[in-house]
Amino acid sequence: MSDAAKPTVELRDVRLSFDEKEVLAGVSLSVPPRSRLVVLGQSGGGKSTLLRLILGLLRPSSGEILFNSLKVTRMGRLRLNRMRQKIGMVYQYSALISSLSVRDNLALPLEELTTKSRSEIDHLVEEKLALVGMSDARDKMPAELSGGMRKRIGLARGIIMDPELILYDEPTAGLDPVISAVIDELIISLSEKIGATSIIVTHEMGSAFKVATHMAMLYQGRIIASDTPENFKASTHPVVAQFIAGDTQGPILQATPS
Ligand SMILES: Nc1ncnc2c1ncn2[C@@H]1O[C@H](COP(=O)(O)OP(=O)(O)OP(=O)(O)O)[C@@H](O)[C@H]1O
Ligand SMILES: [Mg+2]
Repeated sequence: MSDAAKPTVELRDVRLSFDEKEVLAGVSLSVPPRSRLVVLGQSGGGKSTLLRLILGLLRPSSGEILFNSLKVTRMGRLRLNRMRQKIGMVYQYSALISSLSVRDNLALPLEELTTKSRSEIDHLVEEKLALVGMSDARDKMPAELSGGMRKRIGLARGIIMDPELILYDEPTAGLDPVISAVIDELIISLSEKIGATSIIVTHEMGSAFKVATHMAMLYQGRIIASDTPENFKASTHPVVAQFIAGDTQGPILQATPS
């Protein structure tokens, strides 16, 4: 297999239980370089858990997770930290530090993890703010921003280190349709501009089909479908079809644990 064909992220039969509950029951997934994989799944189904496993914030009970062919599951703290410098995480609620200005929120990873000078850092901060159309917010505090603006700043911070991989947890949840569309376009243009691979967890079907180059559905702890968006849309798999249509009738409701 050539280098270009190697998956950026690979999960091999990953299992994870919290106490008695098995959240992931053998997840296998392969994310090709520069793709945008949308992961669909029920609330509480383990999607955020999946992202935390990839970042090495959680360890699986069994199975392997690989980032650029390196086993995340075998890494110690030092190598995990080095790997995380190549991964950008965009959190659902932006997770900005409220006591720091927008500029300082974005500069923080650069100050802590690199030896760049202040002017180099300022330049990078301005570049990323421009990418998300938020140059004017440089000196604002997070509390002065709307939810949609915070999301865009969260995005800018997620890509400040020019990551090879960007993980998005519900990037458009709770936003109005126009801002959602802006965020969707940003996800696409960022992945194209910096050549990153993206994994996007979302409930919003419109966003999912707009941004995805690949789709996977997590259901009852397993990936039950992994395909192109076109094939997902045409899927006759009862669970996939029901989820995409947002139908109340079908296997999902019957199988929902009480
Ligand atoms: N640290 C933890 N300790 C115990 N249980 C946990 C922990 N993290 C997650 N869980 C459980 O694992 C399951 C999956 O959680 P997760 O947050 O991954 O779901 P999700 O698919 O992201 O849901 P949502 O769409 O609502 O964000 C849930 O039942 C949750 O309660
Ligand atoms: Mg979640």
